[in-house]
Amino acid sequence: NESTAEAPEAAPVQVIAHRGGAKLAPENTLAAIRQAVELGVDMIEIDVILSKDGEVIVIHDDKIDRTTDGEGIVKEMTLEEIRQYDAGSWFDARFAGEKVPTLDEVFEAIDGRTILLIEIKDGDEAYPGLEKKVVDAIHRFDAGDWVVVQSFNQKSVLRTREMDPSLITYYLMGKNFADFYEELASESTSSTPLPYNGIAVHFSGIDAERAKKVHDTGYKLLVWTVNEEEDMEKMMTAGVDGIITDRPDQLKQLMKE
Ligand code: G3P
Ligand code: CA
Repeated sequence: NESTAEAPEAAPVQVIAHRGGAKLAPENTLAAIRQAVELGVDMIEIDVILSKDGEVIVIHDDKIDRTTDGEGIVKEMTLEEIRQYDAGSWFDARFAGEKVPTLDEVFEAIDGRTILLIEIKDGDEAYPGLEKKVVDAIHRFDAGDWVVVQSFNQKSVLRTREMDPSLITYYLMGKNFADFYEELASESTSSTPLPYNGIAVHFSGIDAERAKKVHDTGYKLLVWTVNEEEDMEKMMTAGVDGIITDRPDQLKQLMKE
């Protein structure tokens, strides 16, 4: 008797719009976020820090210089001051008038239609109270089911998780993944419970063997920031759970082929 069983299909990879899809629209703006929702991505990644008056601001750099037509350090400016500036024109004239958004506005714009991946930049050490404000906002919008929180600051991830253990949290890594992986590979059994749900690693550190080890340990695995088709293919073959990219349109197209 010949077996009729078919080879299992590769699990679909989650398409994650980096900063809302930074090559398609001005990063970390509501225009980018709306476009990513339209596109039907699985997750939208944003970065958050605090303004001088304690508002959770969606921006990558600690200054507004690169992504607006103004200048200044976010934590030394009030929300009103930050709002004076245009966060869209630098990218393309058709985005003129975009403002630097608050986390609340992003929650309103997404409203559970996709998962929001919030990257806490630096955390409490640089922005006192940031984790608490992010967790409070998640609760205020009843968004626990459609939010993931990540940070390069391990303490920030742990603090967030402690404030609400039901939240999905990821530890972000760059070059330090090499040491983290060495430790994983040398452990015969995984430490339970794991301190976070997953890790998000620079894609250069990941191949199929490593992805398997990460999964065997019990972690989910995301990779950042993958913008070349060749690398997207490599990461899909490696078996990662999600790919963070500035070109979510391209990744979606590739997945159809
Ligand atoms: O989501 C991970 C990735 O965003 C980390 O790098 O500098 O773009 O925030 P960065
Ligand atoms: Ca980020």
